[in-house]
Amino acid sequence: RASSQIVTSLSGCRRMHLFVWLILGLWGAASAHHHVVDICTAKPKDIPVNPMCIYRNPEKESEGLGQEQEKEKIPDLTNPRVWELSKANTRFAMEFYKHLADAKNDNENIFMSPLSISTAFAMTKLGACGSTLQQLMEVFRFDSISEKTSDQIHFFFAKLNCRLYKKANKSSELVSANRLFGEKSLTFNETYQNISEVVYGAKLWPLNFQEKPEQSRALINEWVSNKTEKRITDVIPEGAIDPLTVLVLVNTIYFKGHWKSQFPTVNTKMDKFYRSDGEVCTTPMMYQEAKFRHVSVPSDHVQVVELPYKGDDITMVLILPNKGKSLGAVERDLNPERLQDWLSSMKEISLSVYLPRFRIEDNFSLKEKLRHMGLVDLFDPDLAKLPGIVTEGRTDLYVSDAFHKAFLEVNEEGSEAAASTAVVISGRSFPMNKMIFNANRPFLLFIREATINTIIFMGRISNPCT
Ligand SMILES: *[C@@H]1O[C@H](CO)[C@@H](O)[C@H](O)[C@H]1NC(C)=O
Ligand SMILES: *[C@@H]1O[C@H](CO)[C@@H](O)[C@H](O)[C@H]1NC(C)=O
Ligand SMILES: *[C@@H]1O[C@H](CO)[C@@H](O)[C@H](O)[C@H]1NC(C)=O
Ligand SMILES: *[C@@H]1O[C@H](CO)[C@@H](O)[C@H](O)[C@H]1NC(C)=O
Ligand SMILES: *[C@@H]1O[C@H](CO)[C@@H](O)[C@H](O)[C@H]1NC(C)=O
Repeated sequence: RASSQIVTSLSGCRRMHLFVWLILGLWGAASAHHHVVDICTAKPKDIPVNPMCIYRNPEKESEGLGQEQEKEKIPDLTNPRVWELSKANTRFAMEFYKHLADAKNDNENIFMSPLSISTAFAMTKLGACGSTLQQLMEVFRFDSISEKTSDQIHFFFAKLNCRLYKKANKSSELVSANRLFGEKSLTFNETYQNISEVVYGAKLWPLNFQEKPEQSRALINEWVSNKTEKRITDVIPEGAIDPLTVLVLVNTIYFKGHWKSQFPTVNTKMDKFYRSDGEVCTTPMMYQEAKFRHVSVPSDHVQVVELPYKGDDITMVLILPNKGKSLGAVERDLNPERLQDWLSSMKEISLSVYLPRFRIEDNFSLKEKLRHMGLVDLFDPDLAKLPGIVTEGRTDLYVSDAFHKAFLEVNEEGSEAAASTAVVISGRSFPMNKMIFNANRPFLLFIREATINTIIFMGRISNPCT
């Protein structure tokens, strides 16, 4: 409880905002990001992960939980704690998704990167203490990892990120960039900056928020635009940065995937899509017939298919409710265990796949959703404890809001359009005796790392016709 004495001495200070911006784009890969230290080969002792406060989960003192998890099969060459972190992120993703879906109507698309959200808040957690830290541990499910303390989470995050991005680099598909933009008149805690840079690759960029908030906003927007090959511009709206802003945390994830088995362009035809509200719209529908991992689960009224990207490490999983079953009902029953059951029962079969060609964008504030999930103190000027960020343990920092933006484009071949010579399949009639996966009604979508099952992006396509 090192922070409690500092509260009184600084209570007279004016409030300052800590903005957390989560900005990410899909389909606009930039150049690969290089870390200063090779976290992939580092041991815990090589990485200085000593945040100001450490949270101990009282329940983790008993060995019960750890043993239970031991029964499940950990993928080869995977650190068990990294695997647990990945599972923790999945738990958070599912719960957050439900809060998000509750706030939208059934005809609205949803698209987000739960991994990006978890990463940005883990970066915030580095400077957190007391119940602010505890709530971060609980809401993001970091407390489900069988380590007794919170500080190691960052190390395992580093390992997870490293594994994801390094692996993906083989096919140049997945790139993440983190950055801190801080008010230049303040001295940021060196330990915080060092951990943030080593673990998350996020260097501090000093800006003049106090005197030039609009110029600072423009610069951050330009940085994001640069990182997304100009695909995401003006992500921070006018007026969102003011003279009280202290720090802006940015996490971006870009993914550009080329299908392992492309959809021949000649197969794409305008076709009907049946929306949840009973309306029918018209959209370009892609088609291919190939071998895919697939399962039909009559008891859950869904079909699941996995479409791999080149390299096989990253895949898109589609979950299509059977005709007559609403996507809302599938969403309500969804949990990590059920998803895992579906994924592990998939078998490779010859399949006819119909999938809309679409492009969607989604953006939202995370604040209310996370508060509903129990992340209360962080957003409260009176309760937030973030003494580890600015030197001298200033306790008047809080997170005023957090925003998320994501973009997804799905088409026949990715950027290798010219290479698609392909098998021409004529006719649009359903082939006899063939399994068909026809995504002509709302479906769920996951983009995941397949071996450790890390959900990088998830969403639902309720209306591809926009
Ligand atoms: C910076 O944070 C570390 C803990 O991470 C703390 O030990 C140190 O005292 C802080 N430094 C300053 C100057 O506040
Ligand atoms: C990614 O791959 C390229 C080309 O193979 C290589 O030059 C680059 O160093 C790699 N980046 C990382 C972060 O490993
Ligand atoms: C932070 O990193 C710099 C450069 O690596 C190093 O000189 C400094 O001692 C580190 N500071 C802390 C507090 O860890
Ligand atoms: C964006 O990219 C341009 C061109 O490479 C460069 O001049 C500029 O400094 C970059 N801006 C930021 C904020 O990184
Ligand atoms: C989302 O984007 C729209 C359109 O650009 C904008 O009007 C809205 O303010 C954004 N919402 C959030 C929460 O950023």
